[in-house]
Amino acid sequence: MIFLKKVNIGKNVSIYPMPVTLVGSKVEEKPNFMTVAWITRVNAAPPMLAVSLNKPRYTAKGIRENKTFSVNFPKVDMAEQTDYCGLKTAPMIKSCPLSFECMLMDIIELPTNDLFIGEIVNGYADEQSFTEGELDVHKINPLLLTMPDNRYWSVGDYVGDAWSIGGRQGKLSEK
Ligand SMILES: Cc1cc2nc3c(=O)[nH]c(=O)nc-3n(C[C@H](O)[C@H](O)[C@H](O)COP(=O)(O)O)c2cc1C
Repeated sequence: MIFLKKVNIGKNVSIYPMPVTLVGSKVEEKPNFMTVAWITRVNAAPPMLAVSLNKPRYTAKGIRENKTFSVNFPKVDMAEQTDYCGLKTAPMIKSCPLSFECMLMDIIELPTNDLFIGEIVNGYADEQSFTEGELDVHKINPLLLTMPDNRYWSVGDYVGDAWSIGGRQGKLSEK
């Protein structure tokens, strides 16, 4: 293996790239959606995820009030509307091909953000999102984000099977 020279890019870095989601909650009886890229699965069983919301977010108020929220994955062709939800608020949920329904389990308070941990109680995908019974990433066509350049992307090519292609490495080193 060749070790290339590394450039120090500082510590204010983000997961690279990130899926862009729309997190929905009901605030004062009205549906509210915000764009969230700081999201990750955090527990295996029961399935849980966490979303990180900056303290002043209106959506956070709704999650605290109702103890439920949804996570919705917009398609690449929804980039403009998704960006709009990151600037203003607008309901737009039906057009997302993939959605999770979450029940609030815990809130971890951090200096600038609050981490909302939700148990995933249900997942929904559009009928057209499957190939041979499996979710098809190209059909879902999720919107991705890179920071700090703040640019949107789509998913690229298939690379190989996870928990599988690494096995070949073992065989090579055994030789
Ligand atoms: C691409 C993108 C990703 C974003 N990710 C987050 C995030 O992970 N957490 C967060 O608190 N705000 C994030 N924002 C900002 C919020 O979406 C934005 O402030 C929104 O208007 C908040 O809505 P609310 O106050 O109605 O909840 C993001 C914005 C954009 C455009």
